[in-house]
Amino acid sequence: MIKKTLNIEFSEYASLDELSSETIDLIKKAENNIGNAYAPYSNFKVSSLCLMENDKIVLGTNQENGAYPSGLCAERVAAFAAKSQFPDVKILKIVILTDQNSTKPLSPCGSCRQVLLEYENAQNQSIEVVLKSNGSPIWEFKSINDLLPFAFDGSTILKKA
Ligand code: THU
Repeated sequence: MIKKTLNIEFSEYASLDELSSETIDLIKKAENNIGNAYAPYSNFKVSSLCLMENDKIVLGTNQENGAYPSGLCAERVAAFAAKSQFPDVKILKIVILTDQNSTKPLSPCGSCRQVLLEYENAQNQSIEVVLKSNGSPIWEFKSINDLLPFAFDGSTILKKA
């Protein structure tokens, strides 16, 4: 038996002014869009945006539904919109944040990680992830893979025996 360890590296920024001006600008754009969230059931508003390789920015917010599972998280709204509008353009970075107060940055759900990993693998280039809550430090990951290690992905089913 061999014991193995997995190390995941990410950056924590205590406040916005430690970040690059590009990332600050993206965070502000996402924050300015939080009012577009439709979250009457949870009252938990989330805003996301994708920075594309063609410099376009695609925004998304969580969209809830009275039939709860029919709603969708902000980052999937943003990523699906981005890849619908620009199917051949890489996603460079995704910002995911909430205006809820917390000491911890917002952490994306497993389904969103799976969806983002699909695009990261398909484009063969890492997608950076920026996470934030109101009043929290900011976390930056270099890759979706760091947020979903040991993932099941399409390569498993595409491989022929
Ligand atoms: N939500 C997101 O939009 N993104 C996340 O990363 C976590 C959760 C939404 C889904 C639902 O509308 C609300 O937050 C409460 O779970």
